[in-house]
Amino acid sequence: MRDHLATGLRTDGAGALRIGDAGREVTLCGWVHRRRDHGGLVFLDLRDRYGLVQCVVNPETVPATAFREAERIRAEDVIWLEGVVARRPDGSVNPDLPNGDIEVRVFDCRMLSETATPPFPIDVEKEGGEVSEETRLRWRFLELRRMRLTSAIGMRHRIAFQTRCYLDNRSFWEVETPMLTRRTPEGARDYLVPSRVHPGSFYALPQSPQLYKQMLMVAGYDRYFQIARCFRDEDLRADRQPEFTQIDIEMSFVEQEDVIETVDGLFRHLFRTCLGVTIGEIPRLTHAEALRRFGSDKPDLRIPHELVDVTEDFRETGFRVFDSVVESGGVVAALRVPDGADASRSVIDRWTELARSAGAGGLVWARPGGEGWSSSIDKFVGPERWIAAGGRSGAKSGDLLLVVADRPRRAFSALGSLRTHLAAERGWIGTARPWSLLWIVDFPLFEEGDGGGIAPSHHPFTAPPGGMESLSATDPLEIPSLAYDLVLNGYELGSGSIRIHERAVQERVFEMLGISREEARAKFGFLLEALEYGAPPHGGIAVGLDRIAMLFAGAESLREVIAFPKTTSASALLEGAPSPVGEQELSDLHLRLDTSGGPA
Ligand code: AMO
Repeated sequence: MRDHLATGLRTDGAGALRIGDAGREVTLCGWVHRRRDHGGLVFLDLRDRYGLVQCVVNPETVPATAFREAERIRAEDVIWLEGVVARRPDGSVNPDLPNGDIEVRVFDCRMLSETATPPFPIDVEKEGGEVSEETRLRWRFLELRRMRLTSAIGMRHRIAFQTRCYLDNRSFWEVETPMLTRRTPEGARDYLVPSRVHPGSFYALPQSPQLYKQMLMVAGYDRYFQIARCFRDEDLRADRQPEFTQIDIEMSFVEQEDVIETVDGLFRHLFRTCLGVTIGEIPRLTHAEALRRFGSDKPDLRIPHELVDVTEDFRETGFRVFDSVVESGGVVAALRVPDGADASRSVIDRWTELARSAGAGGLVWARPGGEGWSSSIDKFVGPERWIAAGGRSGAKSGDLLLVVADRPRRAFSALGSLRTHLAAERGWIGTARPWSLLWIVDFPLFEEGDGGGIAPSHHPFTAPPGGMESLSATDPLEIPSLAYDLVLNGYELGSGSIRIHERAVQERVFEMLGISREEARAKFGFLLEALEYGAPPHGGIAVGLDRIAMLFAGAESLREVIAFPKTTSASALLEGAPSPVGEQELSDLHLRLDTSGGPA
């Protein structure tokens, strides 16, 4: 019994009834999921957030007015009914429903709210071909009635709630930070909001609460968290939304290990309370190792095959492409495709295209055959090289080796992309280990920037392990950092770091990134100031709540776990946003539209 679901109109949640309720008289409200006439009886499956229950209207036992109501009731009407919960007759039990062994024998029923014809059936089994996602998003309040979405939204609620419980138990305070703020530097474009009272000035919606949480540490609130809404105007994908939610955490007087331990504990708690799964030790890989073995900084360890460095087997081959790569410090890397020898020309062409779009100059294939080895570069490289590389990579007859020669990062990441692609295409992920949760540690502080300079690997507030001393290294790309990522099933779930808490170090990092003193003061003056007033050593992390919910719910896209998501072109189809505004509103905001061209 769920007493707390009782209201003035109902005694129970319809879908919450179970066999233990048999014999009880109940009053129910809900949507008609399905209606069938059978042997003079009307069968109504009544649906609410809790599930379905079968209700039977018998013309011989209900008042005539009620039966007339039952006869006009259609799918998706909202109805009220009274009846008694009974065990279903033998032979009519539905094993697919948790309460398929009961039904409600109706005494009385009436319409509460009649529906217009829905643009698509809610009852998924009824669908003849799915309607487009646009249509479903346009009518999202209807799609949200479907059980798949209902349970995904329920999962999301549980994750958020259990996060709050766990962190509250460990003395964390949830503190809200502003939505109307100034630019935050997470590397995407900002959403800007024009100010009416300050002509020509704009607020930015936060890309994350990063700087505010650092301020809270300076304020002495040493354990902060927030289930925080973030906004980023970036290219969207299945795992990216323009507005999304982070479990944002920051702690003072901590080392990297303390943050990792806190998040380990949080995930142990979430897996147990939301999925009933006990997770063991969460493995760690260094960034360099992840790249070398899996070609990715977010590897999916459920995929069994690793990349193999076969450079040693291809020294001085006489094949100019390989030789020049090897001589200049590059690598020859291979991915073994078990039973891949029969891949057709067009399939290999497709894989080559993929490797190219992931940055590789090209893709070489080789396979062991009856006569030795054959490869796409037979003219240049003899079989003895392939025999050696085959031995190193464990290739057997029937397998295929895919090989990229390039600078290490490029070669490994191109093969890493192929590895992920082939895992999906060739079903490499077994069902035995459904979860691969791991930490990636020891990220470099900087990486190569788009314009040739350096860019932060994480963000510019990340600390190097040795403070100012670390920053004096001759090659900035060699400087280590105290940054870490949490990865689940090949998705980056979270990123964090120990922060710089000394102004001089922060200023030096800005300088190395080519941010002038003036620019630093203009953009981050308040942070630099705060670092001068007793800033404690601190660090933290942000974990994407939408991504956890997507993976826990077994969904394919963040859109399935966000009640009102945006499309890939950042539109909200239900309410129609963004939308044009009138001349007057623009003029109040001191704006004028340039109608001469499209978006930049
Ligand atoms: P970062 O930018 O790596 O770090 O973001 C942290 C996590 O937020 C999620 N995420 C997203 N989810 C959905 N859609 C998006 N567009 C999107 N962008 C990011 C990811 C990601 O791992 N302030 C730092 C954290 C810190 O240092 O504490 C930050 O925001 O799951």
